[in-house]
Amino acid sequence: MKIISIANQKGGCGKTTTAINLASTLGSQGQRTLLIDLDPQAHATLGLNMDDQNSLYNCISRLTPHKLKIKDIIKQVTRNFDIVPSNVLVGTLEQELADEIGREVKLSDIITEVKDRYDYILIDCPPSLGFLTVNAIRASDEIIIPVETSRFSMQGVDHLMDIVHLIRERLNHPVLAKVLITMFDSRLRHSFVMLGKIKEKFTGMLFETIVHTNVKLKEAAVMGESVIRYDKYCRGSKDYFSLAREILTLDGRQFMVEKEVKVASVAQKKKALIQQDTQEEVVLAEGTSVRMKELIQKETEGLLNPTAFVLNAPDAKSVYVTGSFNDWSLDESCRMSNSEGVWNLRLNLKPGLYKYQFIVDGKWQQDPQNTRKERNSFGDINSLVEVKS
Ligand SMILES: Nc1ncnc2c1ncn2[C@@H]1O[C@H](COP(=O)(O)OP(=O)(O)O)[C@@H](O)[C@H]1O
Ligand SMILES: [Mg+2]
Repeated sequence: MKIISIANQKGGCGKTTTAINLASTLGSQGQRTLLIDLDPQAHATLGLNMDDQNSLYNCISRLTPHKLKIKDIIKQVTRNFDIVPSNVLVGTLEQELADEIGREVKLSDIITEVKDRYDYILIDCPPSLGFLTVNAIRASDEIIIPVETSRFSMQGVDHLMDIVHLIRERLNHPVLAKVLITMFDSRLRHSFVMLGKIKEKFTGMLFETIVHTNVKLKEAAVMGESVIRYDKYCRGSKDYFSLAREILTLDGRQFMVEKEVKVASVAQKKKALIQQDTQEEVVLAEGTSVRMKELIQKETEGLLNPTAFVLNAPDAKSVYVTGSFNDWSLDESCRMSNSEGVWNLRLNLKPGLYKYQFIVDGKWQQDPQNTRKERNSFGDINSLVEVKS
C-alpha cells in the first residue's frame, strides 16, 4: 500500500488533473485506489461529479455535530476507484486546530482506518503550504510535484522541499519527492528552454513521463469524468497511462497484469453484474491492450505508408521529428536514430499533407533538404510532406 500526495503551492500546475487521472488509471489497472480531495475548493470532487455535504471536515473537526468515520464518507467513482470528497468546510480546519498538539498527524491517523482496503491512496493538496498540505505530506510515502513548463512554475518548489526535509528531520518521516512535468506544449520553443532548466534543477527527481497539453483533459474535467472514460485514445489518456505504468514499474508491480485485475474483479463481481457500465469496464480492464491493438490494426490496415525523415547533423547529440501527424507532441516515438551523423526515422503515416520540424539538441529547425515549406504563426518555417495513398 502506498500513499502519494500531489502537492505544489502554485495553483493551476496540474495537481488536480494528475490526481484524478492517475487515480482513475491506477484503478483501471486493477489497483484499488482511493483519491482524497484535501482542497477546500473541491476541484477533484467537482471534476468527477462527486460533490457531497460530507468531507474530511466531519472526520477531523471537534466542532461538527455530524461526526463521521472516513469509511462513511468514501464514495465509489468507478470500479477500483473511490473518492473522499471535499467541501469548503475543510478550509476551516486550519484555524480550528491551530493550537492542537499532534495536529500534523490528524490525516495520517484517519487514513490508517482504511489503509488495508487500498493499493494506492492519492491526496490532492490545496495550493498552499499550511496545515492541510503538511498533514498530507506527513501521511505520505511519496509526493508528486507537478511543474508546468512556464516561467514561474519552479518558484516555490524549494519551499515545498524545505517542508519535506523538515518533516523528515523533525517528525522522523522520510518522503520521496518526485517532479512531474505537466502541460508541456511541444509547439513552443519556450517549453524546451524550460524543460532544460527543470531537468537541470531536478536531476534524479524527474518522472520520465511528460504530460503534454491536451484539451481533452480540460474537457473531461468539465464533463465530470476522468480522461480515460472521456476519451481513452487521446494524448492525455496516453500520458497518464504512461505515468501509471512508470509508478507501477518502480513499485515492482506490472502494468496490466491479468492476475491482479482478476483478483480485484472477483471482489467487485456483484457490483459489476448490477451495473451495466461497470461490467463493461471489467471486460475492458482485462482486455484493453489486446482490444486496443486489434482496433488500431483494423482501422489502419492497408492505410499507412512508411515515410522516412532524414537529417544530416554530424555534431548533434539528439534529434527528434515532430509535426501535425502526431499533434506536435514529443516523446520517444519521435526520437531519430543516428547513423554516422545522418539521423533518420521511419514513421507509418496515413495519407495526407503534414507539417513538420526537426528538433536538434532542443532547437527547432526546418528540413534543409525539403523545398516544400510554409511560414507558421510563430514566425518560423514548417516543412511539408505529402503522404500518398
Ligand atoms: N495537461 C493539460 N493540458 C491541458 N489542460 C490542462 C492540463 N493539465 C491541467 N489542465 C487544466 O489547467 C487548469 C488547472 O489544472 P489543475 O489540475 O486544476 O491545477 P491545480 O490543481 O494545480 O490548481 C484546469 O483547467 C485543467 O483542466
Ligand atoms: Mg487543484
